[in-house]
Amino acid sequence: MHFDFTLEEIQTRNGILDKLLDIAFDAAIIIDKDERIIYCSKGSIELVNSKKADIIGTHISAIDSESPFEQVLKSGKHETGVMVIINGRKCMTNLIPIISGGKVIGVLGMVLFQSLTNLKNILASMTQYTESEFKNIYDIIARVDSNYTFNDYIGESRLIKDMLKECRRASKTNYPVLIIGETGTGKEILANGFHSENMKSFTPFIKINCTAIPDDLLESELFGYEKGAFTGAVAAKKGKFELAANGAILLDEIGDMNLRLQSKLLRVLEEKEYERIGGNKLLPLNSRVFAATNRDLRELCRQGKFREDLYYRLNTIEIKVPPLRARKEDIPLLVKHFIHKNQLDISLSKDALEILSQYDWPGNVRELRNVVNRLSINYDEKLIGAEQVMQIIPHNAELPYDTATKYQLNSLAAENSLETQEKNIIINALKYCNYNISSAAKELKISRATLYNKIRKYNIILNKQILLKKNFV
Ligand SMILES: Nc1ncnc2c1ncn2[C@@H]1O[C@H](COP(=O)(O)OP(=O)(O)OP(=O)(O)O)[C@@H](O)[C@H]1O
Ligand SMILES: [Mg+2]
Repeated sequence: MHFDFTLEEIQTRNGILDKLLDIAFDAAIIIDKDERIIYCSKGSIELVNSKKADIIGTHISAIDSESPFEQVLKSGKHETGVMVIINGRKCMTNLIPIISGGKVIGVLGMVLFQSLTNLKNILASMTQYTESEFKNIYDIIARVDSNYTFNDYIGESRLIKDMLKECRRASKTNYPVLIIGETGTGKEILANGFHSENMKSFTPFIKINCTAIPDDLLESELFGYEKGAFTGAVAAKKGKFELAANGAILLDEIGDMNLRLQSKLLRVLEEKEYERIGGNKLLPLNSRVFAATNRDLRELCRQGKFREDLYYRLNTIEIKVPPLRARKEDIPLLVKHFIHKNQLDISLSKDALEILSQYDWPGNVRELRNVVNRLSINYDEKLIGAEQVMQIIPHNAELPYDTATKYQLNSLAAENSLETQEKNIIINALKYCNYNISSAAKELKISRATLYNKIRKYNIILNKQILLKKNFV
């Protein structure tokens, strides 16, 4: 297989080529016979996270040192299904020689699957097999499928910048990492990011959810078993630790692991070896261990539900992921990210964003992602306003400050701007007075009319029933 056109033709046909290559492949690059990049598609610019002007003219090794471009230039033979890591992402590429007048004059490199998850989904949709029937393929893909990097963790707030800095520093070591954070805060993305960051080759990243699997099964899932180890063990099976050999394992929801298995895990972590159930061969533990939880492990230790010694083993590096409500300045960026990522044809008004930032986000970024998706499905308008957002955000969330007290009225964060402080004081007063406008106005020592004006000015969301009753919307 090869292409037959001149380099001039490629350049003059760029307009058409651009579009074709953008649509056809996750990323595409063309090099000339000196291995200089003469063409890069939109996808490839995103993949290497650089500017087109900086990519054109550079040597291919500057952005992709792994794909065998040189080999294809020399041999004139295409290479397909090559697995490479570009900018921390595992990709599958095809390299096709460009031949003119019988001579190889360049190579077209195409990234077929920028995320192997896409490949997994395609394979699943192409067949009628169930996931378990498909298990072998899934296992293979799962072993190389950690396509998140730290760059995929969206957020520019101080809290996130500091956290990512800590992660990047810690990723250079091989110590266990404990990632603590509420549900939906992106713990799994971070664990993936750690793995991608110091990944030198295709090493496996294996995940196991300690809550989803019943206690007795969890042990055999983790350590594997020999044939006949227990009733039903008709054939030997590798455990997750074995699958994760030389790579990484994420013990997700570690707080839910039972005490007996915690003891066994501790022993394995200390001795760095283990056996399959029913086996007598010692296997080395040579994978990096990540643990994640949304539970308060210290409190579980106090209650005797989590072994303190295991906690200290796992938390050599402890990453605390802040909840979304503690970094609301990231909300507009995240909204933009999900709109772009999911190719949604909407944008949010300033008011709509303001309302999103008043909500408490118990489901954190995952919940925000779902809200953005629902906004794009539920409405025909392209510009989403405050009202639409109010209809989508869960009902009990209309006012984020649930336990306003007189004390809180007087002690608001001093670093906020005067306007934000005023707005927060009003929200708390309303909550404190159970949304009774007259009482809140009295509490604030302002007239009802002034209070209404300020509610309008700051776009404060009142309980919807009250809004309707007072004909306020
Ligand atoms: N910082 C972020 N940037 C981009 N997307 C994010 C971020 N945090 C979370 N998400 C989104 O939320 C989803 C859930 O993230 P993830 O599975 O990592 O959360 P988690 O903390 O492991 O949650 P749980 O405790 O429920 O398992 C992701 O698939 C992604 O879509
Ligand atoms: Mg998770």
